[in-house]
Amino acid sequence: MKEIAAEKALEFVENGMILGLGSGSTVRIFVEKLGELVRKERLKVEVIPTSYDTEILAVKNGLKVSSLLEHPEPDLCVDGADQVDRKLNLIKGGGGALTREKIVAEASKKFYVVVDESKLVERLNMAIPVEILPFAYGFVERRLKELGYNCNLRTSVRKLGPVISDNGNYIADVEAKEVDVEKIERDFRVPGIIEHGVFPSEMVDLVIVGRRDGAEIIR
Ligand code: 5RP
Repeated sequence: MKEIAAEKALEFVENGMILGLGSGSTVRIFVEKLGELVRKERLKVEVIPTSYDTEILAVKNGLKVSSLLEHPEPDLCVDGADQVDRKLNLIKGGGGALTREKIVAEASKKFYVVVDESKLVERLNMAIPVEILPFAYGFVERRLKELGYNCNLRTSVRKLGPVISDNGNYIADVEAKEVDVEKIERDFRVPGIIEHGVFPSEMVDLVIVGRRDGAEIIR
């Protein structure tokens, strides 16, 4: 189903485009297919990856990597999500790349999200990934607790220590009693919080949902 969504997103790619590339397994499929398309059709596209993982994959698939310095306004950003609600608010950051993902999504003229149907939920309800400056962690945890949130530092699978983002920061998963997008935007304005994984619907142009019987586009 991820493949179906990724394939559909490819239909929006045009020659000469500057493409923002998100992170995660759905985007990985998109990047591989994009590489094939660019080779086959001899397209001239440049990509701006949002993680080292995506950057390496893009290079291996023959894509020309660029940056926001050269192209501060990419034409289209394609990214995955961990949860999507009916209004098209998202939670992202399962892979810890949320800050660069939010920057490139916001910078781009269009932001398209590719998900399999398991990501569609009635209400956002998962812990919110948050990138935190290590120096500020104790303070951020305390402040969030005062505001009613539970902050869990993400540790590596083998529990060898905190997960470190591509930007050198901690990632925490913050439990909220209710994911109220506007309240989160207000409450998470804490010094030391670099960015959080709630992407409000105003950022999202469309969501491509991969289903067994084809792709559904939600605007
Ligand atoms: C990474 C992300 C990913 O887009 C999100 O976790 C979805 O990943 P996948 O396509 O593997 O389900 O936000 O930080």
